[in-house]
Amino acid sequence: MDISSAQTSNIFNFATEQARTIVYLHYFDLAICFAIALTVIGLLTAVVIKFRHRPGDGEPRQSSGDVKLEITWTVIPALILLVLGILTAFVMHRVNQPVGSRQPDVVVNAHQWWWEYRYPKSGVVTANELYLPEGVNSLLEIRAADVIHSFWVPDFGEKMDAIPGHPNHLFLKPIKEGLFLGSCSEFCGADHSLMRILATVVSQKEFDAWTQSQVKVPAAPTDKTAQHGEELFMSNACVRCHSIAGTKARGQIGPDLTHVCDRKTIGAGVVANNTENVTQWIMNAQQFKPGCYMPKMRLSKSDAHDIAFYLENLK
Ligand code: CUA
Repeated sequence: MDISSAQTSNIFNFATEQARTIVYLHYFDLAICFAIALTVIGLLTAVVIKFRHRPGDGEPRQSSGDVKLEITWTVIPALILLVLGILTAFVMHRVNQPVGSRQPDVVVNAHQWWWEYRYPKSGVVTANELYLPEGVNSLLEIRAADVIHSFWVPDFGEKMDAIPGHPNHLFLKPIKEGLFLGSCSEFCGADHSLMRILATVVSQKEFDAWTQSQVKVPAAPTDKTAQHGEELFMSNACVRCHSIAGTKARGQIGPDLTHVCDRKTIGAGVVANNTENVTQWIMNAQQFKPGCYMPKMRLSKSDAHDIAFYLENLK
């Protein structure tokens, strides 16, 4: 799915059952508020017109206190608040179900400034691009590696803080297929605005196929350029921060690069993923993402290209 096909981030375009429940409650609350506003404005207008001052009118009749009226305008708002309160509690209970001993389907780990997604049941590890099956109530465990971040895909509904040392949970049952965009929504440093989320919802069948492709250990490169790229990758500092399954690269600081070629973007949604951009990124990531922790590599353009070529051809 091309990134240009992404739906605009929109809280009213509910793409999960949880978001739909929240939006319906919102519509109901809004309807009640409109009804109250119309009643108040209507009565006020009628009173102002009906009892306006006319020439020859004397002082109006003076009165104070009306027990019946005061009970009425206390009881009606109290009932409205009670209904809103009960409905809100009901929706909160539906959206934030108790997790109990259930294992998460995805562990989301927020880093400065990218997202790691681990699928403990299959062993898939990926970054920045989340995949979820449609119609399945997935449990996401939201964690943070450094500072407080917040995971938010507006079409999915709830926003969930990622707090170091305090895992939070989020249930998402997608009801629409497609690509949905989100971002970190808690200020977390220089590149907070460049910490984007691409969430793809696919059918269970496509999700299984995606899982299969992601757990596959890539074959060693046979192409000369790719082989040279692999040599450079393994002998440079790359391996200290990045992992590639089936190789000695076991770094845990940066994104896992095993299947980086399958991602639409690099740098957490910053630029399109292609050999030229990866080459530029390796040489100087700061040009795309000033302040990010990927250092400038002292490599010639041709060496950086060979590494990019190796990474883009890991299958
Ligand atoms: Cu991470 Cu803001």
